[in-house]
Amino acid sequence: MAESNQYNIQWFPGHMAKAKREISQMMRLVDLVIELKDARIPYSSTNPMINEIIGNKPRLILLNKSDMADKSITKKWIDYYKKNNIIALDIDSITGYNIKNIIPYAKIVLSDEFKKREAKGIKKTSIRAMILGIPNVGKSTLINKLAKRKAVNVGDKPGVTKTQSWIKISPELDLLDTPGILWPKFEDKEVGIKLAMCGSIKDDILDLEALSINSLDYLKENYPDNLKNRYNLEDISISSNELLEVIANKRGCILKGGIPDLERVEKLIMNELRDLKIGRMSYEKPEGRN
Ligand code: G4P
Repeated sequence: MAESNQYNIQWFPGHMAKAKREISQMMRLVDLVIELKDARIPYSSTNPMINEIIGNKPRLILLNKSDMADKSITKKWIDYYKKNNIIALDIDSITGYNIKNIIPYAKIVLSDEFKKREAKGIKKTSIRAMILGIPNVGKSTLINKLAKRKAVNVGDKPGVTKTQSWIKISPELDLLDTPGILWPKFEDKEVGIKLAMCGSIKDDILDLEALSINSLDYLKENYPDNLKNRYNLEDISISSNELLEVIANKRGCILKGGIPDLERVEKLIMNELRDLKIGRMSYEKPEGRN
């Protein structure tokens, strides 16, 4: 969201330590951590220290922006988490798809905790939760959707600096009004490319040429029909550099003298990819991840 100004976050080591410390403090207030990931890139949209930060606090994973991801791959991710004893749910925070299932899923995650409470004679079954995730994953959109109003309080600084307050989502769920903002694994170049493919990192901090070549390589291998259909291509067995020139010609991205305008076509492809014009896509599969 515009006011959160996510791109200005500068994750210096001091900021990371502060974010980690403040989120650890927030966690003491809650029964449940709701970790938001981008359904298209569940691995790359994860903070590298998340397990350490969460510790043994019960966790529910929400795969957000599932409207943009490949349904069959999202299902594989959910199965993958299940195998690792983590409950995950695919959602779309804009239309509200599966939002109604968040509370029932949270109750499943907390069923042992509720049993413990019951054994101690504590009747309380309401849940206090917080939302955590990297910038741009949809934390404020989700909080506002759950609250059915513009309730979120997002700062443009890593971590959280204000006093927390609670939003009553239902008699069963109270949510901290400020999400925990964590950094992605940006020391990994592949992760940077994936985040950029999803539009979670601004183009101007990345090499547009490398990004579009990487994207075309990925599409050729994983979504060849989408690529062929969108750009009316017959042969995609040529190199991605050559493919850029072919698409430039087809789309009229031509400079004086008939030279392909590569910068323009690179921008066009990246915009079309993010606007779903090439189709719903996932950029990571659970195979080989741990
Ligand atoms: P954050 O608090 O985690 O930083 O994320 P925020 O809610 O601001 O959401 C980031 C962008 O993602 C927003 O787009 C928002 O509308 C979009 N978004 C959030 N959830 C979903 C979802 O489930 N599906 C889809 N398709 N989009 C979602 P924006 O304000 O237009 O920003 P941008 O497009 O300029 O990045």
